[in-house]
Amino acid sequence: MSEAPKPPGGLSRRDFLRGGGAAAALSSAGMLVTDLAEAAKKKPATPHVPEGMEVFGPGPVPIRLKINGKPFDVRVEPRATLLDVMREELELTGAKRVCDRGTCGACTVLLDGKAVYACSQLAIDVQRMPIQTVEGIGRPADLHPLQAAFVEHDAQQCGFCTPGFIMAAKALLDHNPNPTLPQVQHALSGNFCRCGTYAGMRKAVIAAAAVAVQEDAEEETPRPEMPDGPMPIKKMEAGGEDDEKAARRARRKKKRRQRGGGDGG
Ligand code: FES
Ligand code: FES
Repeated sequence: MSEAPKPPGGLSRRDFLRGGGAAAALSSAGMLVTDLAEAAKKKPATPHVPEGMEVFGPGPVPIRLKINGKPFDVRVEPRATLLDVMREELELTGAKRVCDRGTCGACTVLLDGKAVYACSQLAIDVQRMPIQTVEGIGRPADLHPLQAAFVEHDAQQCGFCTPGFIMAAKALLDHNPNPTLPQVQHALSGNFCRCGTYAGMRKAVIAAAAVAVQEDAEEETPRPEMPDGPMPIKKMEAGGEDDEKAARRARRKKKRRQRGGGDGG
């Protein structure tokens, strides 16, 4: 585009606008540099901390976690999630990192008996709570009934989601030992399986529940020991039967807790 002819004064409209723009740019750049220099001189404002409140971080701080009945002392930044600390610091890699934002359930662990996403808990916040992971409920040579049922019912393909499903199912069975299929479906609804093995997993949970119920029934009716001589007639005191049942139930509960890693339900 050709330049418009210059007016007799020598300054075209275009020259005028160009000059004005450059001056404005220089003056705002100058202002910005001055503002930055001023801000750098100021001390950072100390955040107001309400009385009685302790501030941690931002650097690493010592924390103690209780996982599968064992104490773990580590130094981590307060922003570290429970999943990060378990996987990166403690070599507990049973809980998997998939979405890392509380949507898939691959990182499910039991926190005080409740199924939670470890990627959505700050490690510093759960210091005094019993944590149970898939490592704490069974070993290859001594599988938890749920793990055995998953194997039996072909309830996994790649297996990446399996620890999360096992822990979610354990939380269910610990609170409801004999669930219905819809209850199983509901309890596992926070976990995703990309391989789509949902039907097998639900069957496995129902089967594990049936095994536990059967074990309980067997414990409820212990085979009487036959004495050599005539059977003594034992008089049951009022309320004695209930006491015995309660004691048996307590023993069973204790046994289950031990089998479950001694912690978290
Ligand atoms: S990794 Fe925690 S919910 Fe997906
Ligand atoms: S078995 Fe592969 S994601 Fe569930």
